Amino acid sequence: MSDPPELADLRRPSRDRPLDPEALPREPMEILRLWYGEAREAGLVEPNALVLATVDADGQPSTRAVLMKYLDADGPVFFTNYESRKARDIAGSPRVSALFFWPALERQLQIRGVAERVGKAESLRYFLRRPRESQIGAWVSHQSRVVSSRSLIEAKFDEMKRKFAAGDVPLPSFWGGYRVRPVEVELWQGRAHRLHDRFLYTRDGEGWQFARLAP
Ligand SMILES: Cc1cc2nc3c(=O)[nH]c(=O)nc-3n(C[C@H](O)[C@H](O)[C@H](O)COP(=O)(O)O)c2cc1C
Repeated sequence: MSDPPELADLRRPSRDRPLDPEALPREPMEILRLWYGEAREAGLVEPNALVLATVDADGQPSTRAVLMKYLDADGPVFFTNYESRKARDIAGSPRVSALFFWPALERQLQIRGVAERVGKAESLRYFLRRPRESQIGAWVSHQSRVVSSRSLIEAKFDEMKRKFAAGDVPLPSFWGGYRVRPVEVELWQGRAHRLHDRFLYTRDGEGWQFARLAP
């Protein structure tokens, strides 16, 4: 298959927004909070989406988008099915990489770190904030398993709707959050002539080392 002819020539002039290392917070989750806020203010679609990379027992990586549902100094939290491929990968090797990519802002922020389950109470707190249909949806899907037809999934959804018709939808034992605890955080801001700004935060005891990387 040949590339579309314009692909190799596709480029966009950079807006050349400098990233001033003096002005950057020393705490990398603080910059994630700032950059997420700016992506949101810019009206970007899914500004909280991150691409999560995991690795299986054979060393085969997988990537998929998930949504950051909240963030604190310990790292971003996303929610998923604890029996999915990503969950199986994490059980075998908790080391993950998470990439926030905001092309309209010429920015990416990469976290290398460790994924760990949040407590049940914490998952429940978030679960209760989800719309009822999404709560039921969490019960329906055996995420990442082969399913023979869509109609089976829809039938299960109807069955669960009936089952939980009265009262609250309980938190499934196989559903909850993961926090991505950063060990290294890398910032990338696009600049003119490919002279991009890159900075690396590396965990050092309770604090962080900070260095500029060549683009
Ligand atoms: C923009 C976007 C956001 C998504 N957010 C989530 C999410 O927060 N949690 C989740 O489990 N799956 C989410 N998905 C679906 C995942 O990408 C993926 O298909 C699913 O989690 C199964 O992944 P796995 O088989 O690798 O475990 C999202 C997909 C997209 C495109």
